Amino acid sequence: MKKTAVDELLLVNTTVNGRAYSFAIEPRISLADTLRYELGLTGTKVGCEHGVCGACTVLVDGEPMRSCLMLGVQAEGRTIQTVEGLASGLKLHPLQESFKRHHALQCGFCSAGMLATALALLRDNPTPTRTEVREIISGNLCRCTGYETIVDAICDTQVAEFMRGEQRG
Ligand code: FES
Ligand code: FES
Repeated sequence: MKKTAVDELLLVNTTVNGRAYSFAIEPRISLADTLRYELGLTGTKVGCEHGVCGACTVLVDGEPMRSCLMLGVQAEGRTIQTVEGLASGLKLHPLQESFKRHHALQCGFCSAGMLATALALLRDNPTPTRTEVREIISGNLCRCTGYETIVDAICDTQVAEFMRGEQRG
């Protein structure tokens, strides 16, 4: 079969969850598919594939990004954090523990994106109001929980304490 320009592979060097990766991919592949199929990080979920549902949200250089709207080749030189990078070994991140404690997930399809969005908020502001949390997560759709428990989990005092500690370094 004749190869076109889009079939050509480009080399990407990136850091995901603290680990350096170097791989070659077609320039048309989204970052979401790169994470899932190239790197095997299937915690990132793909829902709408056009920037609406937020399920695919990951942190790129610390900022929440829709990985379905980015290309894998745009990961070049960036630092990416996915849901797989939150826990320390078997110990869940306090925000993950809080989601568990508050029953803030049911099917879990939205959870990786919710966690990424919430984490970016909490890194800037460990004690957001419920209104601020609702506004920030308004770009992340959840079909199961009704959102109330998700807001409870993000506003949890143990999470706030941990995030304040992170800010102090
Ligand atoms: S899959 Fe990316 S926003 Fe829905
Ligand atoms: S827990 Fe099912 S979509 Fe949010």
